[in-house]
Amino acid sequence: MATTQRRMLVTSALPYANGSIHLGHLVEYLQTDIWVRFQKLRGHDCIYVCADDAHGTPIMLKAMQDEVTPQQLIDAMDEEHRRDFGDFHVGFDNYHTTHSDENRHYAELIYTRLRDAGHIAVRTIRQAYDKQAGMFLPDRFIRGTCPHCGLQDQYGDSCDNGHTYSPLDLKDPVSVISGQPPVERESEHYFFKLGDFEDWLRDWIGSGEHVQPEIANKLNEWFKAGLQDWDISRDAPYWGFEIPGVEGKYFYVWLDAPIGYIASFRQYCDRQGIDFDAYWSPGSETELYHFIGKDIAYFHTLFWPAMLHGAGFRTPTAVYVHGFLTVNGTKMSKSRGTFINARSYLQHLRPEYLRYYYAAKLGPGIDDIDLNLDDFMARVNADLVGKLVNIASRCAGFIGKNFAGELAPAMDDTAVYQPFIDAGASIAQAYETRDFARALRETMALADQANQYINEQQPWVLVKQPGQEARVQQVCSLGINMFRALITYLKPVIPATAERAEAFLREPSPLRWDSPAAPLLGQRIERFKPLLTRIEKHQIENMVEASQESLQGQPAGDSALSRDPISAQITFDDFAKLDLRVARVTHAEHVDGADKLLRCTLDLGGETRNVFAGIKAAYDPGKLIGRQVVVVANLAPRKMRFGVSEGMLLAAGPGGTDIFLLDVDSGATPGMRVK
Ligand code: MSP
Repeated sequence: MATTQRRMLVTSALPYANGSIHLGHLVEYLQTDIWVRFQKLRGHDCIYVCADDAHGTPIMLKAMQDEVTPQQLIDAMDEEHRRDFGDFHVGFDNYHTTHSDENRHYAELIYTRLRDAGHIAVRTIRQAYDKQAGMFLPDRFIRGTCPHCGLQDQYGDSCDNGHTYSPLDLKDPVSVISGQPPVERESEHYFFKLGDFEDWLRDWIGSGEHVQPEIANKLNEWFKAGLQDWDISRDAPYWGFEIPGVEGKYFYVWLDAPIGYIASFRQYCDRQGIDFDAYWSPGSETELYHFIGKDIAYFHTLFWPAMLHGAGFRTPTAVYVHGFLTVNGTKMSKSRGTFINARSYLQHLRPEYLRYYYAAKLGPGIDDIDLNLDDFMARVNADLVGKLVNIASRCAGFIGKNFAGELAPAMDDTAVYQPFIDAGASIAQAYETRDFARALRETMALADQANQYINEQQPWVLVKQPGQEARVQQVCSLGINMFRALITYLKPVIPATAERAEAFLREPSPLRWDSPAAPLLGQRIERFKPLLTRIEKHQIENMVEASQESLQGQPAGDSALSRDPISAQITFDDFAKLDLRVARVTHAEHVDGADKLLRCTLDLGGETRNVFAGIKAAYDPGKLIGRQVVVVANLAPRKMRFGVSEGMLLAAGPGGTDIFLLDVDSGATPGMRVK
């Protein structure tokens, strides 16, 4: 048990309110949640807060496109995010939004303090302006030809070949919003003078306490390049907070986003009666930790500490950066079905499998982590089901049947059990330093020892030998206590299983980190019920299949903002490889269990094809029969969850009920090539 109780405030980065939570995000929320649960299990006072990041141009435009108000959009996302996190057992103490009164208050307070201390500069800059949309364009909302390599249809700030440039240098630029070429226009902007804090930041980073070594190295590169003033204002129309005293100018989303940490905590304090200042005043003895991904390190290790310091707040104890998720060795991909949303995962698999697998992969550094789906299944099945749960199931039967559920009154093999107590210190140290991979390796090594002990003692043989009853009870009670120690050490990772185990063990109170030191003796336990089941291959296949399928019904222009960059060009010869044919629909029906698909039988002039099409919302199957449509006839057959699809119907539209099949008139006959 920890001797002194620490007071800690922990945050995860605030997810944007314009998209669903996916398995990439979950690396962070599960890493943080495991760490927080570990701290709580140790008896520390640890508060975990987060919020939706609800401001900025992408949210404003997405709301416009969806024909809802930004408030309606962020309310709906807030609800979805809370549900996804809850179902993954992410136990926030408070979840708020950056579009809140608390956040407005602290954003204004921090800004005015920085301004009054002379850390804000005002300058006129030239920017791309969309006259039709009536707004300045963020870099990502302009596309054109790279001024360095001539690559077409690139973003306003960088191209796919890695060149970076100013959007004003882009050739043939067009606005993503209106499709019109932007014009240059001047505007006054507000800047945070980061350079004022260079010496202070160098000390803060150089102390070796606040950031990981990899990040400190990166920061040194940024120092060498020189710290630039940071543009913190945006012109109307903008979805955010207006800058006090400056009409028509708003805080850039990244100014108020991290202040959302403070705002969420403030809301929690007001509800719980906690002393806010004890956490946020300079010199505070509480600890403050931010968990973030490596893409947002610049904001959290330069701007954020400098803003806090400059505005008279305490600065973070540490910023912990993690790497990015790859699936099966590559970037998550929508076409491969490996861009998996939290909800899609939950429809097929239990959250604790992923919690365990991520923990087994996470170390203290910023390396990317890979979710290899075959390895995921093998690892979870071998460790959690094959090793961990197996210990309890092997012992509980004998205790139940032969001893009316009663554990032995004392433990005679204490030397065998002692390592299970001793290991707690080293496993705790691994969790503390975010080396979850080591924590689980050491825990699983104990599971191997427990299984080996049971193998050697063979209670199933002993039970048949006269006079060995007490020994059977001894061995199995020890086995149960070993299991209990393992569950304790895994409780931060698999909290729901640990709760079921507590019920099975009839624990008088929830397990704490030091519970293994006081084994369960002479008390009754419940009948054993399987605590976790194996992952079956088809669950993973179905999840991947469904993630691919869900794209088919997605609006084609699912916000210009969130779409993938346009892929590399293909040649005309590539295009000519498509064998487009006229097909007559001879049968069409709904597919049981598929949200978006229709199963269509097509006549291609003597050849019959079975094709799945994501057009359920747009077409009544009965009305399709007899229509002549266009099919990609030489597409390789694709195995889907509901059967094999032997081609693709051509349809277009924004999605949902607005998808339109390409029809060919009845003068054409099935099987004919379409030009
Ligand atoms: N809204 C900002 C954060 C503001 S914090 C004051 C943001 N949001 S995000 O939704 O894009 O990302 C939230 C967190 O999830 C970030 O820390 C980000 O690094 C992390 N991840 C998002 N995609 C990820 C992967 N594919 N892999 C691992 N982490 C990922 O950034």
